Amino acid sequence: MLAVEDLLRDNAFVNGHWVSADSGDRFAVTNPADGAELTTVPDLGPKDVDSAINAAEAAFPAWSARTAAQRATLLRRWHDLVLANEEDLALLMTLEQGKPLKESRGEIRYAASFIAWFAEEAPRVYGDIIPPHMTDKRILALKQPVGVVAAITPWNFPAAMITRKVAPALAAGCTVIIKPSEFTPLTALALARLAEDAGFPAGVLNVITTADAAAAGEVILSSPAVRKVSFTGSTRVGKLLLRGAADTVKRVSLELGGNAPFIVFDDADLEAAVEGAVASKYRNAGQTCVCANRIYVHERVAEEFTVRLTGRTRTLQVGPGVDESSDIGPLINEAAVAKVERLVADARDRGATLRTGGSRHAMGRTYYEPTLLSGIEDGMDIFQEEIFGPVSAITTFRDEDEVIRRANDTRYGLAAYVYTRENARSWRVPEALEYGMVGVNTGMISTAVAPFGGVKESGIGREGSKYGMDEYLETKYVCLGGIE
Ligand code: SIN
Repeated sequence: MLAVEDLLRDNAFVNGHWVSADSGDRFAVTNPADGAELTTVPDLGPKDVDSAINAAEAAFPAWSARTAAQRATLLRRWHDLVLANEEDLALLMTLEQGKPLKESRGEIRYAASFIAWFAEEAPRVYGDIIPPHMTDKRILALKQPVGVVAAITPWNFPAAMITRKVAPALAAGCTVIIKPSEFTPLTALALARLAEDAGFPAGVLNVITTADAAAAGEVILSSPAVRKVSFTGSTRVGKLLLRGAADTVKRVSLELGGNAPFIVFDDADLEAAVEGAVASKYRNAGQTCVCANRIYVHERVAEEFTVRLTGRTRTLQVGPGVDESSDIGPLINEAAVAKVERLVADARDRGATLRTGGSRHAMGRTYYEPTLLSGIEDGMDIFQEEIFGPVSAITTFRDEDEVIRRANDTRYGLAAYVYTRENARSWRVPEALEYGMVGVNTGMISTAVAPFGGVKESGIGREGSKYGMDEYLETKYVCLGGIE
């Protein structure tokens, strides 16, 4: 199946060894396209998780003592290996996650770009010398790695959400334990195999596989050795982690749910807005935290935009991710399809108009038709919850103040999108939107060089860019006295 068969790993990676669970328990990893079992991986228990934490703790002093340039060299090797194995990694990702191969290839390159970026940032972690408040003193601010980091990552981006956390942590001098989603551990294990080849010392990077995320989370949260938890996933779980981190006062970064408004003004380039909506809405079958969730279109152009987006939605090919012509793969599981069905049914029951799609797809139990609904009202469930499926939901607005107020009327604040050709508006509206990220005249904002993250209940902290490094660094103040 893979060109390098060794990349299909069926054991966890702890302290430089490929290990099974102490209990011997394993769980199956399945293909969401057809439910077929791909392989089994160890179901690590609390004792195993503890061993991984001990390994990371033991590896920390030597790893953090290396020069930044030495750490960067290993990161660059890892980056090169990831790119050299792009095709195998993409195939593994498609098999366990479902996304079309072309998107998986794109994600592998996106994942590698975080490793490259942070390899370059590693030697540029500067502290400060601060003008002192007394003549016999000198004041320094040193930057030091926070310590052992736990990276808890989701199934929708099985590679990029790992490297976005792990690359800056390793660059800063931290050691890491990665807990991938139980749905997509194979990509994580393949990345670990390549990190092993790159030459990271034992214990610096560990991957724990478990079907019991809550039990693993409990061990991670209660361990004083883990100094930082970085999580991407639901707001519900993020809140649990934030509460759980309080007892040992850990640093926490959270990238949580979104409810992205996608605002199209009447001066917008409508063709560009339609293409932006397709890119933002249907990427990964609508299963990203930054997908357009609420599409607001000015009433003067609403019908034209809706007709054009309906036409584009109908062109999307649904099929298994391994089929090169697929644009929309399966959703991650049947529960995801049931949620989409519920949201569409609620909207239709409350008066929304179905323009296309609206049902499960004939491809199979995890597929849903690319769908477009118009006439949505703000109170409908589909505008209140993250859809996480291939459904566009459109409403109209009359003026700028109104749409800003409605767009901000949510507890989420991850990504927002605005389409306008008016210069002043392209500044004014992003400034007024209560979101961590705003795309103006683009539906694609993700890149390693920009700070990714949310406000309100969408999260804490930023990933990628120069800001992404700060999340893994402590600032230590040193006061030198007696300098006459
Ligand atoms: C996410 O959905 O959590 C991340 C999406 C991205 O990086 O573009």
